[in-house]
Amino acid sequence: MGEIDPSYILPEEYRPKHIVTEEEDIPLIDLSPLTNRGSSDTKALQDLVDKVGHACKTWGFFTVINHGVPLNIRKKIMEVSRKFFALPFEEKMKVRRGIYSTAGYHNNEHTKDLRDWREVFDFYVNDGMSMPASHDPDDPEIVHWFTPWPQDFPELRETCQEYGRECEKLFYNLMELVSLSLGLPPKRFHGYFEDQTSFARLNYYPSCPNPDLVLGNIGHKDPSALTILVQEDVEGLDVQRKSDGAWVRVKPIPDSLVINVGDILQVWSNDIYESIEHRAMVNSEKDRYSIPIFFYPSHDVVMKPVEELVNEQNPAKYSDYKAGKWLIFKMYNNYKKQGFYMRVT
Ligand code: SIN
Ligand code: FE2
Repeated sequence: MGEIDPSYILPEEYRPKHIVTEEEDIPLIDLSPLTNRGSSDTKALQDLVDKVGHACKTWGFFTVINHGVPLNIRKKIMEVSRKFFALPFEEKMKVRRGIYSTAGYHNNEHTKDLRDWREVFDFYVNDGMSMPASHDPDDPEIVHWFTPWPQDFPELRETCQEYGRECEKLFYNLMELVSLSLGLPPKRFHGYFEDQTSFARLNYYPSCPNPDLVLGNIGHKDPSALTILVQEDVEGLDVQRKSDGAWVRVKPIPDSLVINVGDILQVWSNDIYESIEHRAMVNSEKDRYSIPIFFYPSHDVVMKPVEELVNEQNPAKYSDYKAGKWLIFKMYNNYKKQGFYMRVT
């Protein structure tokens, strides 16, 4: 066992004590009725809506197969991700997050103020967007919203952008199923994503000599509406089971993607669906790579329960809050540590 940098060692109560159950897994949903929609099998589609609704309600997490995101692009993005993290540190630091932008490379990622055992590269799905600044004077604003791509590595940019576009199609399909499962019109939420600010993260969790003292990603809930995650065959993702709080290991299934409900959908659905705590463990033998995409609406969208789901018996559980403000609130500590948090006066 080697020595690790003490800054990674978690306080006792955060350490990944092994309370994982192997007996249960999150629901597995076959999306073929959606991807072969031409077949107009309405019963199969309704079954799918019911399955997605049930999974969102009971777990907030599910695995999908036959989701339509091409395998070659998933393989390719994993390949370029490995290649990127294998670059010399000085090269990666040229696209460091925090000098120019809120995206880019970082090796000092903190979740809830505790240091994660990982390196990351963040990119925007809608790259090159001019982010609409929030006009609320109480709203903190970060001015640079673009991805600093490495100059000598055009493949990284091309592949990430292509993967983002493919996942975006899946996201809209999933949002249709989610909307239907809530008794809403299928495109009920689509308008909120017209100026979407979705972003993705290449995660690299190096193998660790002391995996019991650290976490790759400390337990947290995602700020997104939905997150689409690809992981390889090295497991590590744990999801907190709603019924009893036990950590359940998500077993990697070939060609699958993992979907989870984030904070925004929790608010829109007025708590019918909840954003669930999850974490990533590391191990002493193998490096692990994963890529979540966080689908996020325009920063000017107001997060509040949709009116169709609010009535006398179910009063709104949240008051209005701007999506951009929520994101910054969640990311604040990280941004602050990197010294580029700015307030518009
Ligand atoms: C995340 O929660 O963003 C990462 C999860 C994982 O690496 O499996
Ligand atoms: Fe997450």
